Amino acid sequence: MTAALWYAGRGSGVVSLLLLTLVVALGIATRSGRTLPGLPRFAVAAIHRTASLTAVTLLGVHITTLLFDPYAQLRLLDLVVPFQGSYRPLWLGLGTVGADLLAALIASSLLRQRLGVRAWRAIHWTAYAAWPVALFHSLGTGTDAGTGWFRALALGSVATVMAAVAWRLSPDFAEAGGHARRRPVPGGSASDVRTLAVRGGGR
Ligand code: HEM
Repeated sequence: MTAALWYAGRGSGVVSLLLLTLVVALGIATRSGRTLPGLPRFAVAAIHRTASLTAVTLLGVHITTLLFDPYAQLRLLDLVVPFQGSYRPLWLGLGTVGADLLAALIASSLLRQRLGVRAWRAIHWTAYAAWPVALFHSLGTGTDAGTGWFRALALGSVATVMAAVAWRLSPDFAEAGGHARRRPVPGGSASDVRTLAVRGGGR
């Protein structure tokens, strides 16, 4: 039984990390307002949302199974408050920080209408911190961190997120007209409104 918990904890952690990589890349694609090959814009946003909820569900499995696995000696406190654990406290604590950030991301997204776009977006920026924190947690505490397959997955994840972030920072990131907004023409009358493309605005 203990071995089953341990395998389930490791497996769910790995899949959750891979899904988070996908979530970050698709979040950036959603923000660009562009389609992806074979996927319309609404599908990119839908997959981003579904992948993030699945990642969090698997994170729940990861945490619950490892809580009952006697080796890591986790306490309920370690699931919420970072760096208090007895087992590799720094690396374990990074996992707790990642989980806390994910909880804030999901809660703020579910409450987006109430919070308003500005507050929601400010919280959503922490996704850029949650992903590397989760990666360092995995590399620091994972049994499989030294294996070839895990290193290949970690490298692939780093390459994916770095490529997406490089695209995000590139000047042609936002689709021209993708975030079009109605704005008054300077010097024109109140009724003289023309649609101007606003790079990166609109959400
Ligand atoms: C964003 C959140 C998290 C992600 C993506 C994540 C992912 C992972 C991954 C991929 C591993 C390596 C598994 C392996 O070696 O095959 C791991 C290990 C581990 N994680 Fe997490 N984790 C997260 C949060 C947490 C939290 C909050 C805790 C508990 C406080 C936790 C406890 C552990 C433990 C004890 C291990 C070592 C398992 C072992 O190899 O024996 N993780 N995690």
